[in-house]
Amino acid sequence: KLLDTKPKPLFGKTIVMTSGPTHEPIDPVRYIANRSSGKQGHAIAAALARLGATVHLVSGPVTIADPEGVSVVHVESAREMRDAVEQFLPADAAVMVAAVADWRTANEAGEKIKKQPGEVVPVLQMIENPDILAGVGHNKKRPRLVVGFAAETQDLLANARKKLDRKGADWIVANDVSHSSGVMGGDRNAVRIVTRSGVEEWPDMSKEDVAERLAAKIAAALQTIEV
Ligand code: CTP
Ligand code: CA
Repeated sequence: KLLDTKPKPLFGKTIVMTSGPTHEPIDPVRYIANRSSGKQGHAIAAALARLGATVHLVSGPVTIADPEGVSVVHVESAREMRDAVEQFLPADAAVMVAAVADWRTANEAGEKIKKQPGEVVPVLQMIENPDILAGVGHNKKRPRLVVGFAAETQDLLANARKKLDRKGADWIVANDVSHSSGVMGGDRNAVRIVTRSGVEEWPDMSKEDVAERLAAKIAAALQTIEV
């Protein structure tokens, strides 16, 4: 392998990340999930590692391989993801890309739920999951740079701005996941970077290119914020 002489602007920096979906158990054989493939988050983790960062990636269940050069913790549920993320604070930056299930079942069954004779069907009662990004953004050990994602099907910018404040994030990477966009599971992404000082609109590009560009922006930000 040729000697890698690329500059490593994130050398010595530690970044905690989430990626992929979460699975919320219903009973020992069933769960609630969502369509996240983990492609975008994993690509960002690899891109940050290529810039020299120590990346701790907490991944929900995905079928893609662990990104190269990244330390990966595999979890299933939102609660497991939150606990793993907290273990990696303090960190220089947090990049929370996971499509965390907003709700989990309140009444997880210890045994497989069996069919009942007649018309009786199970009723799933749901409760809200912890917000992992907000937990990091409002943490005593808050990283200097906190980046979240926002998947929206409508009112993209207004919703992203609200998430900036509610979650204590510095940037929200907003993407349109309406039916026509093909973002979920696809290989391309058109994002806007929403910050307190404005909005950057990036053209439609591959998830790899979004990852490269975001990693470079994170490197630049960590260099300028430093005192
Ligand atoms: N997020 C999180 N924990 C949750 C929910 C979301 O860490 N329980 C993070 C996601 O990883 C993402 C950001 O918050 O970085 C925004 O996720 P999104 O689903 O768009 O926002 P929600 O606050 O869940 O709002 P809603 O789904 O109602 O739009
Ligand atoms: Ca959500």
